[in-house]
Amino acid sequence: MYYSGHPYHLYVPPSHLEDIKEKIIIMNLMTTKETERLTEILTHQIVIFGATGDLCRRKLIPALFKLHEKELLPSNLVIVGTSRREHSKESWIETLGDYPEEFLHRLDWVSTDLENPETLQHLPDADDTTYFLSVPPERYESAIVNLKQGGLLDDPETSRVVVEKPFGHDYESAGHLQSVVERHLREKQIYRIDHYLGKDTVNNILATRFSNTLLEPLWNRQYIEEIQIFASETIGCEGRAQYYDHAGAVRDMLQNHVLQVLALIAMEAPCKMNARELRREKTKVLAATRLGTNIILGQYDGYRNEEGVDPQSSTPTYFAGSLFVDNWRWQGIPFNVLTGKKLPYQCVEVVIKMKAPPQQLFEGHEYNDRIVMRLQPNPHFDIRIDIKSPGLNDNVETATLTHAYPQERAIDGYEKLLYDAINGDQSHFVHSEEVMESWRIVDDLLCTGDKCPIRTTPYLYRGGWGPEYKSQWITNWDYPS
Ligand code: BG6
Repeated sequence: MYYSGHPYHLYVPPSHLEDIKEKIIIMNLMTTKETERLTEILTHQIVIFGATGDLCRRKLIPALFKLHEKELLPSNLVIVGTSRREHSKESWIETLGDYPEEFLHRLDWVSTDLENPETLQHLPDADDTTYFLSVPPERYESAIVNLKQGGLLDDPETSRVVVEKPFGHDYESAGHLQSVVERHLREKQIYRIDHYLGKDTVNNILATRFSNTLLEPLWNRQYIEEIQIFASETIGCEGRAQYYDHAGAVRDMLQNHVLQVLALIAMEAPCKMNARELRREKTKVLAATRLGTNIILGQYDGYRNEEGVDPQSSTPTYFAGSLFVDNWRWQGIPFNVLTGKKLPYQCVEVVIKMKAPPQQLFEGHEYNDRIVMRLQPNPHFDIRIDIKSPGLNDNVETATLTHAYPQERAIDGYEKLLYDAINGDQSHFVHSEEVMESWRIVDDLLCTGDKCPIRTTPYLYRGGWGPEYKSQWITNWDYPS
């Protein structure tokens, strides 16, 4: 939010508005020199730890640049890159690609070591700071402790920390990390990224569900037979073996992206569209969610030969199985999920299979009504219904009503997430309770060996939609195409 009506273009975080209005009234009574001094006080910065890494170069800086172009960054925001490497501002900028001078002006470099609290004191001061931890997750704990001990996170209104997934490695480790967070930060200061929540098409699930009355009366166990969620990729682990071989499909996709999509599909309407209410409803639905017993894990052929992968690896690259949401709306309705790498089609899609009408008046036609939400690529919304076939007979055939989601105005997820973080809006970040519920749901899939409650040894698959002979037992999948 910008406070207009004043010669200085001031960015005002919502919580500060009243305070600033008061300052501006005073400023109007001041001399130019005095007002300049006051505007200087209102500085903002985003400090990116791990600024020499891939995420910063490929995602964060381009997203910040787009926000800059759209004049959506606070006019005095400084982007501080930092890491252990010795860099100057100039040498860092050279690694980032081509940007206009007026954007590069905002960038600065400071070398720090997150493990060495003294070096953190070299970071510039600002009134409002977003610390983005683009560092390996095992460093989150010491980063939070050291930033706090260095006095950089003292004010919960004006300092916050953004972390990427994964938050923990399983239920226990996530609980431990959360206890560190709780000792040092307020929940309002921690922004846990699930980049799916930055996607317009994912956020469109709620808009489509709750800004229309058409769907909501049907959106329950009375009219829905089954929900299928696909998150399939054609690529393999693509040189990320060091991370992926310890994560696998369950930690990499199911625990976060897929469960977030499930929560948005299954949750009740929040009483308000704000971070507290949205996340409260998601937490409730995740708390009601459990794994079914028909679970298939798979590993694509050739995975063990990839560079950096353990040749004996039993890491799953594929998950297919049913989840159930034990509440009044969804009791007994399977949410069948299929996610994996090296599958025939890259796609994120939700298929809502409607129940058949009570009486089949039209013979010879397989009942096929569906609502389909394609989140990527070519996002669209389909309603498949039966209509009368033209002609003399009384047969029916399936017709599809499609609305393509407007992509021309689409933004990159990181643009949205950085904008929200800088502006102190946590609506599209994951709350600690959601994280813990998500880990609880998948915890049985994370153990290895004979004592696991679920068979976790992956089946091999090559081509096709995973170990099809097995996953076909789960349901008759509506594979995307
Ligand atoms: C990441 C996973 O979080 O999401 C990757 O680590 C996966 O393995 C990616 O490929 C998928 O994201 P998107 O936006 O391409 O669907």
